[in-house]
Amino acid sequence: MSRIVYVNGDFVPEEEAKISVFDRGFLFADGIYEVSSILEGRLIDNAAHLARLKRSADELKMDLPLSTDDIEKAMLELLEKNGVHEGALYLQVTRGAADRDFGFPADAKPSLVMFTQEKNLINSPAAQKGIAVISVDDIRWGRRDIKTVQLLAPVLAKQAAVEAGANDAWLVEEGFVTEGSSNNAYIVKDGVIITRHLSNSILHGITRAAVLKLVEQEGLKLEERPFTMQEAYEADEAFVTSATTFVWPVVKIDDAVMSNGAPGEISMKLRKLYIEEALKR
Ligand code: PDD
Repeated sequence: MSRIVYVNGDFVPEEEAKISVFDRGFLFADGIYEVSSILEGRLIDNAAHLARLKRSADELKMDLPLSTDDIEKAMLELLEKNGVHEGALYLQVTRGAADRDFGFPADAKPSLVMFTQEKNLINSPAAQKGIAVISVDDIRWGRRDIKTVQLLAPVLAKQAAVEAGANDAWLVEEGFVTEGSSNNAYIVKDGVIITRHLSNSILHGITRAAVLKLVEQEGLKLEERPFTMQEAYEADEAFVTSATTFVWPVVKIDDAVMSNGAPGEISMKLRKLYIEEALKR
């Protein structure tokens, strides 16, 4: 069945969707995006995703083509048209189409594109078995707090992981883990959850914020600070968070096997609590 996608105000079958070859997202990766998860046909934490979209746009001096309220209306309409029960909604805003020139165009209209993806988020095999990650150099630019579509570094990192027989990559800068290729990274040692503090070095994950709230509610110990790969190898557990994984346990980091190769207790507890909370909202 063909999906209905959204392109600049129109809902069209995916085969008919068109965007200009001069779109600056295509030419310069001059664009931003968000991915919201869908559970039981509802968008999870969407207000927070739209707030981050607005922040990304402001940081790049990019206009949004619609107010965030109107973007949300379009998201809900797209969701309804595709009848997605569980999965993700991807949305992308670019600075629009204009003849190729590096500086901002004077009169381009920002483009807005959205599509849905059906995915098994709750019963994903990765969540039950855990994932293996490898470490790679973090070669990204300095503003990772802005969710831009220039994703070549994570594409290469993820491909390196797949070629090494792993599922994902953790990115390492000056000896410290920044985050996963498309998720935030955590280790657990002696009952303390450790994850990098917020700065321009990482994306401020919406799932991270929700999970850290649960950590506080449960009275678990938390340290927000950079950690090294050596600490990761010696950790009791590890996990990642993102809109499309929620919490996925990590059972192998490079050659180090975590918690005997089984998902860790704290990771699985946080996953369960996150899903319960998300379903309640
Ligand atoms: N990625 N860090 C990076 C580099 C990410 O790309 C993502 C999300 C996250 C987690 O953010 P959130 O919890 O708000 O999803 C952290 C999305 C899912 C993607 O690119 O598909």
